[in-house]
Amino acid sequence: KKILVLNGPNLNLLGTREPAQYGHETLADVERMCQEAGARLGVEIECRQSNHEGFLIDWIHEAGREVAAGRMLGVVMNPGAYTHTSIALHDAIKGASVPLIELHISNVHAREEFRHHSYISPAARGIIVGLGVKGYPLAIEALVRVSDAG
Ligand code: DQA
Repeated sequence: KKILVLNGPNLNLLGTREPAQYGHETLADVERMCQEAGARLGVEIECRQSNHEGFLIDWIHEAGREVAAGRMLGVVMNPGAYTHTSIALHDAIKGASVPLIELHISNVHAREEFRHHSYISPAARGIIVGLGVKGYPLAIEALVRVSDAG
């Protein structure tokens, strides 16, 4: 089975973007870590990134159809700043009935107040926050363990 790893806005800048918050690994490094985790756990990994809310929504709908068809376990998503703004992403996750692990590289609760609220969390199966980019393989493993396949 497959897991879709979605990265939202500005995560294409990983590596050079605020390294004190997000570390020095690039998005390519992160995607390689995800592929390694998938190989170790026996799941296929597909990684996508977009700065556009609508693409993320379309991909969640697509994932919902794949989950319903029994071909996908679910989604690991770092929604970036859309975490704090997007009712549309919340509705997409609920509407598509996708098991989704919400992930943040930084500890959003130790940062600005505007990062403390997430529209995604009430629709998420679980949340991984503040463990750096190591959170990605952990989120993939979490999704495998909480699904039937685990
Ligand atoms: C982030 C935290 C968000 O508040 C921020 O807007 C991001 C990245 C994280 O991974 O820590 O873009 O989701």
